Amino acid sequence: MSQYTVAVAGATGYAGGEALRILATHPNFAVTCVTGHSSIGDRLAIHMPHIPQLGNLVVEDTTAEVLNGHDVIILALPHGASGKLAEHLDPHAIVVDLGADHRLEQQKLWDEYYGGEFFQHWTYGMPELITGSNADGQVTRQRESIVGAKRIAGPGCNVTAVTLAFQPALAAGLVDAQAIVANLAVGYSGAGKNLKRTNLLAAQAFGSATPYGVGGSHRHIPEILQNLSHAAQASTTEPATAEPASIKQDIAMSFTPMLVPMARGILASVVAPMTERAAGLTDEAIHEIWTQAYEGQDFIQVLPQGVMPATADVIGSNAAHIQVAIDHRSHTLQAFAAIDNLNRGTAGQAVQSLNIAMNLPEMNGLTMIGVAP
Ligand SMILES: NC(=O)c1ccc[n+]([C@@H]2O[C@H](COP(=O)([O-])OP(=O)(O)OC[C@H]3O[C@@H](n4cnc5c(N)ncnc54)[C@H](OP(=O)(O)O)[C@@H]3O)[C@@H](O)[C@H]2O)c1
Repeated sequence: MSQYTVAVAGATGYAGGEALRILATHPNFAVTCVTGHSSIGDRLAIHMPHIPQLGNLVVEDTTAEVLNGHDVIILALPHGASGKLAEHLDPHAIVVDLGADHRLEQQKLWDEYYGGEFFQHWTYGMPELITGSNADGQVTRQRESIVGAKRIAGPGCNVTAVTLAFQPALAAGLVDAQAIVANLAVGYSGAGKNLKRTNLLAAQAFGSATPYGVGGSHRHIPEILQNLSHAAQASTTEPATAEPASIKQDIAMSFTPMLVPMARGILASVVAPMTERAAGLTDEAIHEIWTQAYEGQDFIQVLPQGVMPATADVIGSNAAHIQVAIDHRSHTLQAFAAIDNLNRGTAGQAVQSLNIAMNLPEMNGLTMIGVAP
């Protein structure tokens, strides 16, 4: 079987570490280079003792010279660090950026939420994203764009949970897209490995839950709107445009992540008032719409009616567990998603996209089996 060499930048962090954990047993990839920042010169075994196969690799400096020469380069760096570096990477290598630098299509949204230099949008690495519909009325998906891609932008973790939970609602025109409310319970590893004294010391975080990024300020908001705008294209008869609907201000969302005491995992609850098109739908009918929306999408499990997604069920896997319900009293539609932020929310989805880009079986190296309980 062919072995492609892989270099992982930011290999000592949480996202890079999960990429290493997945790649260590992937049949088509061999990790041959790891880079970091404060840990240069260390054996990887010091930082990733749970991946003994790669323990003898030595952490190198994160430069284009070190990273070039490998078939695949995974960038798991703080946002802003990958954009500049990527400009100097071998155009023949396949590069996946797990950070935010290449996710947004529009500079004005980057300026508003991130600031600093805007880097070119790359092929978005969420294979199941609904991007519109074809002449036969079948939904089209981002997977088609990923085949053969050389530059892939890995989605945000919260973005993945909200998008997968709620895109069927937009694609079918079932909700008021100006009144979406998303609340998320998020594990600590979503914040990365660096010490944060404000809210991430064990004494403050254990046994406690607290919101962050409130007031519409969270950086994942524009990316979610971008995705839901694409999904909404499937509900119109108009041809898809390159310009996402968020620019036209017709999708709006209140978004509140909350830190909860768990190492990994995101549970998203997304709610919106139902449109006339959804009025009269039964619980069974709404569940069937979600089931159909993910038919053939192996990693997305729409759970049996009444079974609620739980983060424990997806930890360590690239699966997303989804459920949907109607609140008949408030006339709202509720959808839920549970994912592992490090696996499905970043490294697993990245490997899935790499498999697709390189024409490998999409499931290679990945599992949809969680470690529950
Ligand atoms: N954590 C998640 O759940 C998650 C989910 C989706 C996407 N992401 C994205 O993945 C990226 C990495 O996040 P993370 O959570 O893994 O962060 P992290 O745990 O803090 O790791 C950061 C990594 O980058 C290296 N690094 C730090 N500053 C650097 C610099 N100036 N130049 C080069 N390397 C530098 C660190 O090296 P040293 O340890 O050697 O200093 C470390 O390997 C971010 O862009 C994040 O948005 C994370």
